[in-house]
Parts: sequence; structure tokens; C-alpha cells
Amino acid sequence: MGPPMLSRTLLAASRSRKMRSAITGVPVTRRVVDRFVAGDNLDQASLVIGGLVSEGLRVTVDRLGEDTLDASDAAATRDAYVEMLKRFSDLGIAENTEVSLKLSALGQKLPKDAEKIAMENAVAIAEAARAAGTTMTLDMEDHTTVDATLGTLRELRADFPWVGVAIQAALFRTEGDITDLATAGSRVRLVKGAYMEPASVAHQEKHEVDKAYVRAMKTLMNSPAYPMIASHDQRMIDIAHKLIADAGREPDSYEFQMLHGIRTTEQRAIVASGEAMRVYVPFGDDWYGYFMRRLAERPANVMFFLNSLVKR
Ligand code: FDA
Repeated sequence: MGPPMLSRTLLAASRSRKMRSAITGVPVTRRVVDRFVAGDNLDQASLVIGGLVSEGLRVTVDRLGEDTLDASDAAATRDAYVEMLKRFSDLGIAENTEVSLKLSALGQKLPKDAEKIAMENAVAIAEAARAAGTTMTLDMEDHTTVDATLGTLRELRADFPWVGVAIQAALFRTEGDITDLATAGSRVRLVKGAYMEPASVAHQEKHEVDKAYVRAMKTLMNSPAYPMIASHDQRMIDIAHKLIADAGREPDSYEFQMLHGIRTTEQRAIVASGEAMRVYVPFGDDWYGYFMRRLAERPANVMFFLNSLVKR
């Protein structure tokens, strides 16, 4: 049995223009979206982020947007990130607030000079991150983008060795990629993988993805890399704790990460235990793809969404 039908349908819908206009056109959708997205603009997001940082959480901020097909949109995304990093610096929260980028929002899918433009935009953001005294992490999108993203990562790391990357346990190739990335100081965010992928490239069964996640954690925890364990799955967190103890890792040599609005009590419990927890905070009006992937991860979220439509 592959992924549940409902998840497959939602992930297919996340790529559909028709569904996008149907779902984003319903006014009440916004209230449900607000559970996962920290507002439409930087002012609203800064309030949420400032609150999280004051509670001892770290943050990584994503300005929503993906699959840009226009170079001027990619440049606007770059400028928004640069402005954002300056704002975090001015607010005095940059030390605990980094940024997450999708290279497809910076030009990776443009019809011409895609990798060059994405790279230039990413460099401008990395320079702004360095000036602010913080870091950045490349999100990983569907499997067709992995080679390009890892290529850009390698180039970026020559000048900005602290640039991190998300790696998806679901992909068969990940075992090799993780081994390549398990070097000193390398910041690797391990995730299960949020995209619908064909059986030719990715595990289809949840327990296979979970097993692959554990294998990747083992490689990272027993290496000099800096593992970022990005999961809400308590079993993965418990296994991470065992691996941390076995490897004798200090609390400053790894971190946990979760998404804004998901398992918020557990996020604070991890901070209270003296470990680092970084919350991934997305903001902006282009929330459709992100929101649909969150619905696909958990049928209960769909019920929450449908209920709010009925109760409006
Ligand atoms: P799993 O999906 O097995 O969920 C375990 C439990 O967590 C669930 O039973 C539920 O209790 C809770 N939970 C999980 N998702 C929930 C949701 N949406 N709403 C409410 N509860 C939920 N993916 C990707 O492909 N590229 C990327 O760059 C990133 N980046 C990223 C950053 C960070 C910080 C996180 C936490 C996640 C990502 N992801 C990602 C998403 C990731 O691939 C994955 O889809 C989700 O994290 C869900 O997987 P879990 O590991 O949480 O486990």
C-alpha cells in the first residue's frame, strides 16, 4: 500500500492551478492558514518571530513562494530576503533567526540561465545573512531539483561554509547524499520529505521512510556534521535522543526543528530541557503550496479545515 489516497489527492491538488484558485478564493481558508503561516507581511511575521525568540526558541524564516518563472519575481524574492535579514539585525534577533530559501523562488526554474541566476540571488542573501550574523538553509523541493540544489550548495559553501540544506529521507539517493554531507560543521536538516514522488526514486511506505530517516540520523549523529533533526514524530525524536547519548554529543552540536503551529508544547519542552529547538516560520501571501502539503501530512488537518468551512 502506498501513501493514503487523501494525501495523494491533496499533493496533486497542491500543484493544480484550478484547485489553487478554488481554495484561495474561500475567505474562511485564511483562518486555518493562520495556524501555519505567520501573516502576510514582514511586520506581522516579525511580531511572531520576536515572540518565539523571547521564549528561547530559535527560528528559521521562509518567505513563501516557489516555482518562479520570471527573473524579476526572483529578484524581488531576493530583495525581500535581504530586507528581512536587515530587519532581524535591527530588531536584535538575528543571532537566533536564520532564513530558509527555496531555490525555485530565486530562479532555479527560469527558462534561461536558471542555475546562474538562482546562484547569484542566493549569494546576495548569504552576504546579507553574514552581515546580520546569522545563517541560511536551502529547503529541498521535489526530486528533480536535488542535483541542482546540491550543486548550488557546494558552490555557496566555498564562501559561506555555514549554509545548510534540507535532505529528504524518502528519497533512495539520500543515503549517498548524507554520507557526502556528513563532514565537519556541515549543517544538514533531515526531513522525511513533503513531496509526492514516484516509486522509482522514493520509498512509498511510511515505515520505509521512517527506517531511512533513522539510518540517516545514525550517519549524521556519528559524524562531525551538525544535524538538524526536523520532525514532529516523537519516535524519531526519542531515537535521536538515544543516538545523541550514545555519541556523547553536547547540546550545542545539534538541534531539533519543527514547523510553526505544529506540536508547539513539545517545542517548548525541548527548550526547557536545555536543547535547541528551531521553529520554521513561513509568512507571505503565496501560501497555497505550503498549506496543501501540511494538509496532506495529517488527515486531522483536513477535518479542521472542513469544519471551519461548515462553521463559518
Ligand atoms: P510524520 O509526518 O510521520 O508525523 C509525525 C506526527 O507529527 C504526526 O502523527 C502528527 O502528530 C505530527 N504532524 C506531522 N505533520 C503535521 C501537520 N502537518 N499538522 C499537524 N501535525 C503534524 N520537507 C521537504 O520536502 N523539504 C524541506 O525543505 C522541508 N523542510 C522542513 C523544515 C522543517 C523545520 C520541518 C519540521 C519539516 C520540513 N519539511 C520539509 C517537511 C517534512 O518533509 C515532513 O513532510 C513533515 O515534517 C512531516 O513529517 P514528520 O517528520 O513530522 O513526521
